[in-house]
Amino acid sequence: RGIERLGDLIAEARAIVPFTGAGISTECGIPDFRSPGGIWTRNRPIPFDEFVASQEARDESWRRRFAMEQIFAAAKPGRGHRALASLYRAGKVPAVITQNIDNLHQASGFAPEHVIELHGNTTYARCIGCGQSYQLDWVKRRFDDDGAAPNCTACDEPVKTATISFGQMMPDDEMQRATALSQACDLFIAIGSSLVVWPAAGFPVMAKRAGARLVIINREPTDQDDIADLVIHHDIGETLGPFVGN
Ligand code: OAD
Ligand code: ZN
Repeated sequence: RGIERLGDLIAEARAIVPFTGAGISTECGIPDFRSPGGIWTRNRPIPFDEFVASQEARDESWRRRFAMEQIFAAAKPGRGHRALASLYRAGKVPAVITQNIDNLHQASGFAPEHVIELHGNTTYARCIGCGQSYQLDWVKRRFDDDGAAPNCTACDEPVKTATISFGQMMPDDEMQRATALSQACDLFIAIGSSLVVWPAAGFPVMAKRAGARLVIINREPTDQDDIADLVIHHDIGETLGPFVGN
């Protein structure tokens, strides 16, 4: 029933903006944050100020990242990613707003400029001082050689995955583009997010207030279920699988 109604809403919409969270990537083997077995059930997040202040925190952060490397390197887009990419190719989806850092929307066929990454990307690294990009291989080699997380070769500030940590500034450009997309779409679909982390969780509310229809697809209830036009408490791959096209 929910899937039928979703099909109708998608068919009627002219501009659909998907907003994704970690739940869209669990079928790709990447754990989410808050489900049983999720990242934050196993490790406490390392806030940005701790990363800046402490070599030990930086070493721990990079050890965790390297421990996940097999998982990220092997992950392929799932049915949810592929369904959204089909709608993108069909001209129904101008861009995707994502909290995810796994690069799987790009891997599914979205042009990089059409993936708004609110929380950055973990498939490469950046200097927190001058912004210089680094490949993870380089960080790994330096870490193995020196036994410690490296600093930037240009400015000597710490190098971090290109992600946004708690306490770190949100990226300006991404926030602006996500705002414009949320206000201009006629259908906004939140997929696989607990909707507890702000300001990201503000975009479904913003879209709804601006007049879009709001759909939430998530296994568990969220605080925004009561403002949604359609809520589907079901598996994402199963729900979006029927929308995978060419
Ligand atoms: P969460 O782990 O908070 O929520 C993921 C949601 O997806 C949960 O409510 C699950 O029930 C649901 N879910 C998982 N697999 C699913 C499936 N196959 N089908 C349907 N539902 C499924 O992840 P996010 O909401 O993405 O930010 O987390 C938001 C932010 O918190 C992340 O971007 C990250 C994290 O801390 C930062 O680190 C800044
Ligand atoms: Zn630098």
